[in-house]
Amino acid sequence: MPPVEQPPEIETVPVALGERSYEIAITNAGLGAFVPTLHTWLTRRGSRPDGRLAVVVTDDHVRDRYAVPVTEALRQAGWKCEIVALPPGEQTKSHEFVSQLYDRLVEFKADRQTVIVAVGGGVIGDLAGFVAATYARGLPFVQVPTTLLAQVDSSVGGKVGINHPRGKNLIGAFHQPLGVFIDTSLLETLPIRDYRSGLAEVIKYGVILDEAFFAYLEQNVAALNQRSPVVMRQIVARSCQLKAQVVEQDEYERSGLRAVLNYGHTFAHAFETLCGYGALLHGEAVAIGMVYASRLAEGLGRTDAVTTARQVAILRAVGLPVELPQSSRPAAEAILDAMRLDKKSAAGQLRFILPTKLGHVELVPVAEPDVRAALENAD
Ligand code: NAD
Ligand code: GLY
Repeated sequence: MPPVEQPPEIETVPVALGERSYEIAITNAGLGAFVPTLHTWLTRRGSRPDGRLAVVVTDDHVRDRYAVPVTEALRQAGWKCEIVALPPGEQTKSHEFVSQLYDRLVEFKADRQTVIVAVGGGVIGDLAGFVAATYARGLPFVQVPTTLLAQVDSSVGGKVGINHPRGKNLIGAFHQPLGVFIDTSLLETLPIRDYRSGLAEVIKYGVILDEAFFAYLEQNVAALNQRSPVVMRQIVARSCQLKAQVVEQDEYERSGLRAVLNYGHTFAHAFETLCGYGALLHGEAVAIGMVYASRLAEGLGRTDAVTTARQVAILRAVGLPVELPQSSRPAAEAILDAMRLDKKSAAGQLRFILPTKLGHVELVPVAEPDVRAALENAD
């Protein structure tokens, strides 16, 4: 695939998936280059933008600041463009709002030429992507992620979906976007708790795949906490490269490789489901989940105490939680029950991503008594 010619301030990370290949365009110079970049992506696929319908899906927090300018730029470039703003927050990732969005697409007379443009965080990207995957058996869609978590993780790789009341991300599909347009300057307006939530996924990449990146994060804690523009560009680009490499090798999570991206998530998804969607932010749950998973690995003799201690130290240094609050801690049996719905389970056995050392993890079947012990000895 020939690279798209981009202005020099845009760097691109390719995601090579045969006919589903696309690019992640990363800038910190604003959203002005979004429409020209989209046009280049479409042209390369032999497709023309003229007079097509785009439906911009967003949430009420980012609608005016980011989604309206994108909508106006699309209209100026000749698109018919509608905007649908949903309530912000994890509870929107539900059947109810999927159904509302289907109704709006019917109203707009969307067809297979219609492009869905997700402007928002992981909630909007996952939900809009799921609707794009299923409406009329599949519409093209584009991700314009506005949170750190979405820029480093959820917008890349094509996992789209919604929550079931009993299981996080239980309903979903694989549907790759046409492209991902990332502007790291949007992170300046992100509330601190949501910003930190994204840092959990950044730290995750260091633990699972790249010890040098983990050390870079340790050395740059002050810059991370100040959201230094240079460091933002670097952590977003490196995270996207690492995720793209994994997705390219195991797009549909069949070989076990892609499952490494789920480090900490077996615990995290159970905590999010049991605490009520939105009570713990996804990245907060992942931060706590990584510590539980690392302690589980220690208990099984698979890693050492230093591996866990370095994770705890950096998570604390960027202001993330490392344990569940006593007041809202679900019982071990309830956590185990929620974990049994985990998508990594095979033949009824729980499987966890466990570190051996920083930069290396493995997919390991773990007996329930060992998981129960890790949950009960958490303090
Ligand atoms: P989110 O989408 O709820 O966004 C967090 C909050 O930030 C929201 O209130 C939103 O309105 C606000 N916001 C977004 N951008 C902003 C900006 N630039 N300035 C100010 N406010 C802004 O949450 P999230 O953390 O982005 O995503 C979490 C979701 O992502 C979870 O549902 C998780 O399961 C999912 N996820 C999916 C994948 C995947 O591969 N598909 C990977 C990781 C996480
Ligand atoms: N966030 C996990 C994955 O994309 O596989």
